[in-house]
Amino acid sequence: MLILKTIEEFTKARSNLLKGDSLGFVPTMGYLHDGHIELIKRARQENKYVVTSIFVNPTQFGQDEDLDKYPRDFEKDRNILEKYDCDLLFFPSTKEMYPSSKPGETFVVPGRTAEGLEGALRPGHFRGVATVVTKLLNIVNPTTTYLGQKDGQQVAVIKKLVEDLNFTTNITVVPTVREEDGLAFSSRNSYLSKGNRKKAPVLYSSLLIASSEYKNGDHSAQHLKEMIREQLKMDSEITIDYISIAESNSLQEVEKASPGCMISAAIWLGNTRLIDNIVLE
Ligand code: PAJ
Repeated sequence: MLILKTIEEFTKARSNLLKGDSLGFVPTMGYLHDGHIELIKRARQENKYVVTSIFVNPTQFGQDEDLDKYPRDFEKDRNILEKYDCDLLFFPSTKEMYPSSKPGETFVVPGRTAEGLEGALRPGHFRGVATVVTKLLNIVNPTTTYLGQKDGQQVAVIKKLVEDLNFTTNITVVPTVREEDGLAFSSRNSYLSKGNRKKAPVLYSSLLIASSEYKNGDHSAQHLKEMIREQLKMDSEITIDYISIAESNSLQEVEKASPGCMISAAIWLGNTRLIDNIVLE
């Protein structure tokens, strides 16, 4: 695997690849876990070349968020990427991606998909995501970009970005990978205390209860959301940021759940913020 730290080095290595062969791209912020690995495996199966990027992107973190303590382990990540046969790793510094002392003056501002849910609670987050993904797509020029359903709103925002700004990459969405007890893998799970780690699966199990109620014929979004709230409220240490049932591409809230809707929720458990979702079939 080649590790490229500058855009110039990367572009050179990219141009040495055979033209016309497919390239799968997995953008990440590192601290790789089984969720990331699934994306890499999928990219490996479906492409001649696999490129992964590791960049903890400052512009998508709010002022009071966890940019400084975001977990990092480059050696472990490198070993994982070697093991799963990644060809190129793009691993730029912040200075390389944002050369001026303040992050760039030009931002990519996503539209309505970014307004609710995570966007409402984390102002500027999706502007940062859209900006860095635009930069990465311009640098990497992939055939297909692999994204995880775990971050359902991010998928909607990036799909719309690719469509609206005429990027040529395909988008492949990979189902959420979970621990045995149902908790979705996330780099931020490392913040959970032992006690809270035990409680964390309640987020997914509450979504599962709502989705099975839906399958039983109850399509009232209000009712389904109430069921989730009841489950989560059983633990007084949980703070709910939101519970939503929205159409998965537009992310507009619905009154009646239907196939293609995403049931999602965000909670705080101690100092750790967890998000998860289920898309109704
Ligand atoms: P990061 O949180 O590192 O996630 C990288 C990719 O892995 C994303 O597409 C995310 O949805 C996917 N992923 C994370 N956990 C997953 C899980 N349990 N199952 C399946 N996929 C999972 O998302 C980002 O980084 C950044 O916002 C980024 C897109 C790289 C832009 O900075």
